[in-house]
Amino acid sequence: MPIAPQQTLIRGGEIVTDTRQFRADILIDSEHIAAIAPHIDAPAGCTTVDAREMLIFPGFIDPHVHIHLPFMGTLAKDTWETASKAALLGGTTTLIEMVCPSSSDDPTAALDLWMSNARDRSSCDYSFHMGVTRWDDTTEATLTSIVRRGVASFKVFLAYRGAFGIGDEVLYRTLALARRLGVVVTAHCENETLIAERSRELLAAGRTGPEAHHDSRPPRVEASGVDHLMTFAEMTGAETYIVHLSCAEALERALAARARGVRVGIETLIQYLVLDKEYAERPNFEGAKFVMSPPLRDRSNQAVLWNALRRGDIDTVATDHAPFDFATQKRLGERDFTKIPNGIPSIEERVKVLYGRGVAEGKIDLCTLVRVASTNAAKQFGLHPRKGTVAVGADADLVIFDPRARSTISARTHSSAVDYSAFEGMSVAGAVRDVWMRGARAVEDGRFVGQTGHGQFLARPLQARQ
Ligand code: URP
Ligand code: ZN
Ligand code: ZN
Repeated sequence: MPIAPQQTLIRGGEIVTDTRQFRADILIDSEHIAAIAPHIDAPAGCTTVDAREMLIFPGFIDPHVHIHLPFMGTLAKDTWETASKAALLGGTTTLIEMVCPSSSDDPTAALDLWMSNARDRSSCDYSFHMGVTRWDDTTEATLTSIVRRGVASFKVFLAYRGAFGIGDEVLYRTLALARRLGVVVTAHCENETLIAERSRELLAAGRTGPEAHHDSRPPRVEASGVDHLMTFAEMTGAETYIVHLSCAEALERALAARARGVRVGIETLIQYLVLDKEYAERPNFEGAKFVMSPPLRDRSNQAVLWNALRRGDIDTVATDHAPFDFATQKRLGERDFTKIPNGIPSIEERVKVLYGRGVAEGKIDLCTLVRVASTNAAKQFGLHPRKGTVAVGADADLVIFDPRARSTISARTHSSAVDYSAFEGMSVAGAVRDVWMRGARAVEDGRFVGQTGHGQFLARPLQARQ
């Protein structure tokens, strides 16, 4: 059901963009920001919202989520209804989902399936990265037509052989095509052979529990994957984006490539900034809740990642939201850690934790928060300036954030369909108070008031990229 257009005046908040902070009123007219000024007179019939002592952020963007995810013999738990509600409650107004076909799936049919799952069900806006999992005579034409539909980015996996993983030939061809089309290739970087061999050795030595997952893919394995992608990017001239970078060693390789001219964006995840490998060592199989790839790392990596965010070396903080239940799905790997469905859900927690552990603890400033959780993703993936900023003419995706409040994270109160939270019991400074999604209120005083189906597919035409 379409939401009636209306005007809303947000009064007296402290607006934060990626470059500055200033106090002003904001007038929303229908779906857009109509005016920003030190004082705006309320037009007749307009709703007025008091935002004094509040921060106002642009709607946050999560450029890496999984919602429909058939993986490791099971299907991720969230639907677009539950995931988009969770996203909005956490201040995220735009999601970019990975389309992950198996190598035997038809890519166009896969994209249609992923799109149909979101259509009429999402309460926030959304877009997709197209997973490339095979190559045949039809692939180039198919991917070209997918890009023309507004899915202007690809995803490749250098890991997960036998599922989404690709070999070097497909990698080269995907990058070469992306270069010709002018689209970015997002990539999961780990060396698959090293993982397979080390996993085999660990299992043979009786190390079957979740704590062995880290040792099957230590930092060197990720750094090797990054090097590999960088070499191929250099040879093809393609623009790349490393997803879920977790550690100092991988960062070093990515920055070295960037320094020699390779075009590479770098994403880390909220999980790597605040959780470490000891979580995956918890007894009674509890560690399985924290199994993801690349794995949670030694705590010493966290300061490296925070510093890289502050310096601008890492561009984005995403979630890689991958919602698998503990009771029924993670337990598939009870006797063999390689069978634990990989991933940690975090779509609702990302901004709260980034603010609470980052801004409130002095690790990053407010503009950096906006840059890494909103603006850079909008720029990287062709959504800026419609998304990712607070400016006249932009979509009225706005978050009123109360820096004086506190919130405690728990699976008992979260909206994702998953039965656990990796951040259970974490108390963080700050709370999302209100959210507007293209001018319509989606969160009011911390309660969801959005509408299923209000979310729109965001086609990302090539000319819109910056
Ligand atoms: O462990 C993870 N990251 N699960 C989701 C799939 C992926 O690799 O992005
Ligand atoms: Zn991945
Ligand atoms: Zn992912």
